[in-house]
Amino acid sequence: MTTDLFTPLELGRLQLRNRIVMAPMTRSRADEAGLPNALMQEYYRQRAGAGMIISEGIAPSAAGLGYCRTPGLYNAEQVAGWRRITDAVHAEGGTMVAQIMHVGRVSSHYNKPAGAGTVAPSAITAKGEIYTDAAGMQPMDAPRALAIEEIAEVVEEYRQATINAYAAGFDGVELHCTSGYLPAQFLSTGTNHRDDQYGGSVANRCRFVLEVLQAMIGVDGPGRVGMRICPDNPFNDLSDADPGETFETLLRAARAMDPAYLHVIRMPGGRVDNLGLCRAHFGERLIGNDSYTYAEAEAALANGELTAVSFGRYFIANPDLPQRWRLGKQLADFDPKTLYTQGEEGYTSYPAA
Ligand SMILES: Cc1cc2nc3c(=O)[nH]c(=O)nc-3n(C[C@H](O)[C@H](O)[C@H](O)COP(=O)(O)O)c2cc1C
Repeated sequence: MTTDLFTPLELGRLQLRNRIVMAPMTRSRADEAGLPNALMQEYYRQRAGAGMIISEGIAPSAAGLGYCRTPGLYNAEQVAGWRRITDAVHAEGGTMVAQIMHVGRVSSHYNKPAGAGTVAPSAITAKGEIYTDAAGMQPMDAPRALAIEEIAEVVEEYRQATINAYAAGFDGVELHCTSGYLPAQFLSTGTNHRDDQYGGSVANRCRFVLEVLQAMIGVDGPGRVGMRICPDNPFNDLSDADPGETFETLLRAARAMDPAYLHVIRMPGGRVDNLGLCRAHFGERLIGNDSYTYAEAEAALANGELTAVSFGRYFIANPDLPQRWRLGKQLADFDPKTLYTQGEEGYTSYPAA
C-alpha cells in the first residue's frame, strides 16, 4: 500500500493520526504577560483534526518574547493556560507539540515585560522594523551580547520550558532553529562574532543549538523532541558564509541524539538544497514545509522524500483541512489583514466546511 496524507504515523513517541501537520503560526492573540487564553483554546480545538499541531512560537523566558501578544511558557499561569488548550485538543483526539521560540535580537522592548532585556550572541542590531501595539512600527532593539555564563542560563530556560510544556500536557516540543531567531543567530557568521567557544569555528557556532537540543532531550528522552530548520534563510537580516557546512555539521551531531523528527522548510533558489541536505545528514523522519499543495505533498510521501508534510496558511481559513481534503471539498481563502490582529475575527471565525 502506498503511503498517503491519511496514513497514520509514529514519529518517535508522537502518534499522528494522519500526515497533515499544522505548521507553527504566530497569531498574536495571547493576553498581556504572554498568557494563553480561551480564544486560543477554541482556535486550536478547531484544528485538532491535523495529524499533529505545532503551536505558534512560545517564549521560554520574558527575554525570549519579541512580537506583540505572543505567549510564554515560563510561569505557572502560562502552564495552566496551555493545559486547557492541550486538554481541548486531546479531547478531539489530536496531538500537539509546543514550538519553543526565543527571538534573541528580533525584538522590541515594547513587546515584552519591563526589565526583560534583548540579548544575542553578539551586539549586532538586526536591520528592519517590528510592529508594537504601544508605538506602531519600531526599529529592532540593539541587543546586548550574552556573557558566557548567561548562555548556560538560556540553555536552562529551554530545559525548564520543556518541563513546563510536558506539565501543560503537550505531547512534545519543537526547537525553533530558523527565521533569524536566537538559535539561528548563534549558527550564522553574520550574527555571531564571538571569540569564545560559542563563536568562530563551525563547531563552536553549533554549540549553543546542540546544548539546547540536548537539554530538551534530557527532560524525557529524544522521542518527544523535534527541531525546525531552514538553511540559508535570510529572514530577519540573517546571513551565513557557508550554510551548507553549518547545517551539515549541525545535523550530523543532532542526528546522533535521535530526535523524533526534523522539520525542514525547503527554500528553492537558496544556496543549499535543504531537503537533500536533510536526507543526507539526518535521514528519515522528515516533515517538509513551505507552499506544498495537496498533490505535491502526496507525491513527496509516495516517493519517500518526506515522512509528513506541514501546512501553515491552508489551516488559517480551513480549520478542518484534513476533512476537506478527504471529502474533496474546496479550500477557503484567508484574510491577510487579520493575521495578527486581536479578537476572533479572522482567527476562530472561519467555519468548518
Ligand atoms: C501568520 C504566520 C505566522 C507564522 N509564525 C511562525 C512561527 O511562530 N514559527 C515558525 O516556525 N514559523 C512560522 N510561520 C511559518 C509557517 O510555519 C510556514 O513555514 C509558512 O507559512 C509556509 O508554509 P505554508 O506554505 O504551508 O503556509 C508563520 C507563517 C505565517 C503565515
